[in-house]
This record gives sequence, C-alpha cells and structure tokens, in this order.
Amino acid sequence: MVCSCISGMGKYLPDYILTNDGLAEIVETSDDWIRERTGIRERRISHGEATWQMALKAARDCVADWQGNPQDIDFVIVTTLTPDYYTPNTASAIAAELGCDHAFGFDLSAACTGFVYALDVADSYIKAGKANHVLIVSVENMTRILDFTDRTTCVLFGDGAGAAILSACEDGNNRGVISSYLALDGGRRSVLTVPATVCHEKMPWEETVADTNGHHAVMMDGTEVFRFSIGAITEAVDKALERAGLTIDDIAWFIPHQANIRIIQHFAHRYHLDMEKIFTNIDKYGNTSSASIPICLKEMKEQGKIQKGQLGLIVGFGGGLSYGAAVIEF
Ligand code: UT7
Repeated sequence: MVCSCISGMGKYLPDYILTNDGLAEIVETSDDWIRERTGIRERRISHGEATWQMALKAARDCVADWQGNPQDIDFVIVTTLTPDYYTPNTASAIAAELGCDHAFGFDLSAACTGFVYALDVADSYIKAGKANHVLIVSVENMTRILDFTDRTTCVLFGDGAGAAILSACEDGNNRGVISSYLALDGGRRSVLTVPATVCHEKMPWEETVADTNGHHAVMMDGTEVFRFSIGAITEAVDKALERAGLTIDDIAWFIPHQANIRIIQHFAHRYHLDMEKIFTNIDKYGNTSSASIPICLKEMKEQGKIQKGQLGLIVGFGGGLSYGAAVIEF
C-alpha cells in the first residue's frame, strides 16, 4: 500500500525580535502579564518581507533537507491567512521561484489549522495516486494584520514560515500519515475574524479604501476561543487516535498549535502527559498561526529529538472555527 511520509522539513523565522518589554513600549502591557498568561517571551517580526518571500525561504530550507529535485514536486499547497494578493495565489509564486515546473497548486485557508488540513489533502492526493511529492508551506505575516493599540491581540502573534514535503513511499518501512481528523464549527466563527477588503456594509461605490483599511485587524474574543480550543483539542486527539487504532501511550511526541502555553498545559493535564513529551517553542515565536506546527517539526529535527519510527501527534485549532489532528510515523 502507498503511504505518505514526511521526507523533508523547513522553516524560516525573520531576524527581528520584538520582546515583551519592547511591546510594553508600544501598548499598555507588561512582560509579567504576557509570560504568565501566554508563555510568550518574544516574537519575530517580518521587516518589509512579503508573505511569499518568507514562504520561499522556508520552502528552500525544506527542499535542501529533502535533497530532491523541485522538478519532481507535483503539488504545492500554501496555507496562510495573510496572502500578499487575492490572486495570484502564494502557491504560484513558490512553484515558479522554486522551479516546480510540473506542479499545480493552490492556497488553503483554514487559519491556525491550515497545516493539519494541508497534510490531510496532501496525504489524500498521494494515497489516490494523484501526486508523488507534495510541498506544503505554512506562512504567516501576522504582525501585518494586528491592531497595535489592542493589547488583547497584538501581544499574541508573530511572523514565520514552516514547510514539509510529503512523499509517496511503498517500501512498507514507514507508515507516514497514519490517520487524521478534520472538523469545523462554523456556527462559532464570529469569535475570531480578520475582515477582508471587500466588506458589504455599504454599497460598493460608497466604499473607499480609507473606510475599509481600519477593519483588517485580527479581532478575537480570547476567552471564547480559549474555551473552544480545550474542547476542540480533546475531540480531535481522541478521533485521530481512534482512527489510527492507537492509544495516547503509543505516541512519543505531541506537537500542538502554539497558541497559549496554558492551553498546552491543560492538554497535558487532561491526558496525564509529561510536558517533556510535548514540544513547545511559543516562548520564542508567539502564535505564528498555521506556521507553528511545521516550525516545531523542523526544530525537533534540528535538535535531534525525532527518532525514525517514533509516532507523533499534531493538533491544530483556530479561526473558522477549524480544528484537526493527525498521527504521523516519523
Ligand atoms: O491561534 C488561534 C487560537 N487563539 C487562541 O487560542 C487564543 C485563546 N485565548 C487566550 O489565549 C487567552 O484568552 C488570552 C491570552 C487572549 C487572554 O488571556 P486571559 O487569561 O483569558 O485574560 P482575559 O482576557 O480574561 O483578561 C484578564 C485581564 C483583563 O483585565 P481586567 O478586566 O481583569 O481588569 C484584561 O484587560 O487582563 C487584561 N489584559 C491585559 N493586561 C496586560 C488583557 N490583555 C492584556 C495585556 N497586558 N496584553
């Protein structure tokens, strides 16, 4: 049977570091509050870099790790909630700049769950025999859509990109993506929004750029999203494990979306997990939305944490309200 295995991983983080103390000079907040309530110490800020440029750097890092030829990539998926253009999509820029001359591709919008959704799409294409090597790039320029006068949101997010290549493998040595579970609670979608340029409050000819620009920021009911996240994680983890025919004890590594260390600690408590089994880097990067999970995966590899044959569980949740999980053999 054909399996889809992670054959390459990549990441890119901008150099510019904004610490909590730095943020406290911009908005009324403190290092103590941010660390205690979120676990974040600092975040990266893209300094004039477009979303596609960050995505390309992560993609190049991923291809170098894979050691393959971009000409052999047949499908490019980019996940982002901060594209540079409505069209062309970000995938077209990545495919062209990387030299994926035979690839098709598109952008996928599932907010912070984007990487988990993309992994499932890539896995499905590979198992259906429609693709052999799929490049996923999850990239977010979050600080471009933050309201830096709103302390309840601007302290949470950072910029970055992560990438992975999924390849068809038939040798039976690696099961790759073993199971996945995706879900969407659209009824609660209004608690986390980023309005687009086209807003329909007025007739189109009455609307000016000045009218709409102020609305492009992340707006979030943090308490509601926190509550949703707790339930979403449990449902997604239980379903992904059930579909894999595994239990929580079979998993060596848990890689949750990095939204808030308290959400992650709650997850650890719920499943009686040692925090040592849960990879976190939220202290360094904040919430990088869909990029957070692939950035974690790459860092785990760089730090020599991943052993071949170990099982990992990724779980994402966010705008939509979307959520999902997947069990992977490394
Ligand atoms: O990736 C997408 C998914 N997103 C998430 O999962 C985010 C989920 N939500 C959260 O992580 C948390 O709800 C937050 C971190 C957003 C907020 O933490 P909280 O513990 O729920 O704080 P709160 O909103 O209940 O606010 C507590 C207090 C308030 O003051 P009062 O009313 O008690 O006087 C806030 O005004 O903290 C105040 N506050 C701040 N103080 C200093 C809110 N933000 C800040 C701030 N600095 N940045």
